[in-house]
Amino acid sequence: MDNQVPLHIAFIMDGNGRWAKKRGLSRNIGHKKGGDTFREIAKYAKDCGVKYVTFFAFSTENWKRPKEEVDALMKLFSEYLDEAESYAKEKTRLIFLGDKSIFAREMAAKMTELEKKSKQFSDFTLSLAVNYGGKDDILQAARRAAKFCRDRDLTPSDIDEKFFSGLLYTSAVPDVDLLIRPGGERRLSNFLLWQSAYAELYFTDILWPDFTKKDLDTAIEYYKGRNRRFGNIEK
Ligand code: IPE
Ligand code: IPE
Ligand code: MG
Repeated sequence: MDNQVPLHIAFIMDGNGRWAKKRGLSRNIGHKKGGDTFREIAKYAKDCGVKYVTFFAFSTENWKRPKEEVDALMKLFSEYLDEAESYAKEKTRLIFLGDKSIFAREMAAKMTELEKKSKQFSDFTLSLAVNYGGKDDILQAARRAAKFCRDRDLTPSDIDEKFFSGLLYTSAVPDVDLLIRPGGERRLSNFLLWQSAYAELYFTDILWPDFTKKDLDTAIEYYKGRNRRFGNIEK
């Protein structure tokens, strides 16, 4: 047993729609409630001594959803960006994972500005994955690596794991230690594919809007009980 608090926890915030449906409410109300849970759990993870948290808010595949739902999700995201200034006061580094080029210029600029302003904070890093896809992440890194080889003094054999990791959207954060997926599904849905190579996986049927601090405690206790061998034999 490693018995340590994970350095990096990643959350797939799933189950908002079902949470709302169960109550006869619109899916968008479920998303709003999920947003409240996100704020509460992010704060609590910091109190627990976790240094990096990453939340999956919108995938490259989620654009397939009805326009009305996508618009509502984007509105919630934009509201979060407006309020996110305050997180600088809380000494939190903010990072946005994913292809920003799809967003309106003003919104993308705001994301970049928040990242720049909060870069100085090293105690706690919150990454929010929006328009993020694990495959897209690996592809954009591969394209940039190819460009390095073409335009600079670099050969394919120079591209090792460390260099490649530095080209991913997550270049500033370590690999995932604990991946938590509420909502009942047992899949990654194109989340941090490279970065979760050795993550401990924790699945629960609890729907994200119902996920509490106590549920995070339970997941961390589960993690502490794991023996992480990374391919080695038990020591
Ligand atoms: C997760 O909740 C939020 C996003 C994917 C944006 P869902 O909207 O997927 O909720 P379910 O899975 O339909 O219940
Ligand atoms: C994963 O949830 C994406 C986010 C939580 C942002 P989905 O609800 O989109 O995943 P699938 O479609 O059930 O795999
Ligand atoms: Mg879902």
